[in-house]
Amino acid sequence: MKKPGFHTLAVHAGQHPDPLTGSLATPIYQTSTFVFKNAEQGAARFAGEEEGYIYSRIGNPTVTALEEKIAALEGGEAGLAFGSGMAAISALLFYLAQSGDHIVTSPVLYGSTHGLLHDVFPRYGVKAEPVDLNDEQALRNVIKENTKVIYVETPANPTMDLVDLAKVIKVAKEHNIPVVVDNTFMSPYLQRPLELGADFIIHSATKYISGHGDVLGGLIVGSKEHITGVRRTTLKDIGGNIDPFAAWLLLRGLKTLPVRVQRHSENAMEVARFLKSHPAVLEVYYPGLPDFPQYDLAKEQMDGFGGVLAFEVKGGVDAGRKVINSVKLCHVAVSLGDVDSLIEHPASMTHAGIPLEDRLSMNITDGLIRLSVGLEDPEDIIDDLKQALEQI
Ligand SMILES: Cc1ncc(COP(=O)(O)O)c(C=O)c1O
Repeated sequence: MKKPGFHTLAVHAGQHPDPLTGSLATPIYQTSTFVFKNAEQGAARFAGEEEGYIYSRIGNPTVTALEEKIAALEGGEAGLAFGSGMAAISALLFYLAQSGDHIVTSPVLYGSTHGLLHDVFPRYGVKAEPVDLNDEQALRNVIKENTKVIYVETPANPTMDLVDLAKVIKVAKEHNIPVVVDNTFMSPYLQRPLELGADFIIHSATKYISGHGDVLGGLIVGSKEHITGVRRTTLKDIGGNIDPFAAWLLLRGLKTLPVRVQRHSENAMEVARFLKSHPAVLEVYYPGLPDFPQYDLAKEQMDGFGGVLAFEVKGGVDAGRKVINSVKLCHVAVSLGDVDSLIEHPASMTHAGIPLEDRLSMNITDGLIRLSVGLEDPEDIIDDLKQALEQI
C-alpha cells in the first residue's frame, strides 16, 4: 500500500479505536503504575525482555500514541515525549554528551537552550561552542576529537536565521557526529530534517504541535536504538516525563497541524508584506520575503515559511515598546505557534538571560520585536499593527 500523506498521518498515525470499548478518541490512561500478573512478569518488563508498561514516568499508552504519531510525521523510527521542550533538549543532550565533551551549536539559540549549554553544562564539564554553521570551513575548524553533538536551531529564535542543513549534515557524517535539529519553528509539516540525514529532532511541542496555547510538552524523534537509550537513562533517571492528559492534548493538536500551519504561514506572509511596506518599520525578518538574505535556502529546505517573524521599528527600544504597548488584538506574551497572535520583546523577555555581548552578537538587538502570527483574519492583525505603529 502507498505511504499515507501527511494530513492522513496527522489524523491516523499512532491512534486506533480502543479495542475494549470502541472509543474513537484515544483514552487518557490516567494512571501512575501498571499491574503485573506476577513477579516474573514484573522482572521481565524491567529487564526489557517483555514489552509492556511499568510506571508512567517511563511509558504510558496515551503517551505512546503521541510518540508514534510524531515519529510518523517526522519520518523517524521512534519518538519520545517529555513535559516540556527544555526537558526533551536536556534529556537528549545529557544522553549524548558527558564530562570532557564538546558541543557545536548554531550561533542563535532560544534563551533557555543557551542557558542550558552555557550556564548549566559547564558545571558538568561539557563545553558548548557557537559557530556560523553556514561557513563550512569555520565548522571544520571548530570540530574536535571530543565533539559529540552538532546542535542546530533553524530557523533560529527570534532572528529567523537559517542553517543549511544538508551542508552541516555532510560535514557531521564525515566525522561521525550526531546532528540534533530543533524543529519547533517549522513543525514536520514544513521541514523534515531526518529526511536530510539529521539524527535527532527535538520539539517544543508547546508551540505548533499543541497549537492552542494550553499545554507544555517536548518531543524527540530518532533511531529506535537511541530513543530506547534515552527512555532508559535520562528520561527514567531525571524524570522529565509528560503527563497523560498533556499528551492527549498534543495528540488532539497534531490532528490539525497541517491545516493550522498552512494558514499560519499564509497569514504571516501577508503581515510580513504589510510590515515591509510600512514607513515606520526599519527591517522585517521573514524567510518568505524575496529579499530575505536566505530566501533561496528557505525555498529549498522548507515547504513553507511558517508563522513567526521578527521586525525592528525606527526609533529603537522606545518605539518598539510603544508598539508592543499599543496592540489591542495581539497579546503581549511569550510562546508562539498558538491560534492567538502573540507579540513579545526578546531582549527583555525570552532572551533576557543571555549576556548582552552574546545577545548582540546574535543580532538580537534591543529594538527587535517577535510576532507569532495567529489564525485570526489577517486584515484584523494588520489593522491592529497599523494602529500600533501610528502611535510611534
Ligand atoms: C525554539 C525553541 N526551542 C525550545 C523551546 C523550549 O520549549 P518549552 O518552553 O516547551 O520548554 C522554545 C520555547 O520557546 C523554543 O522557542
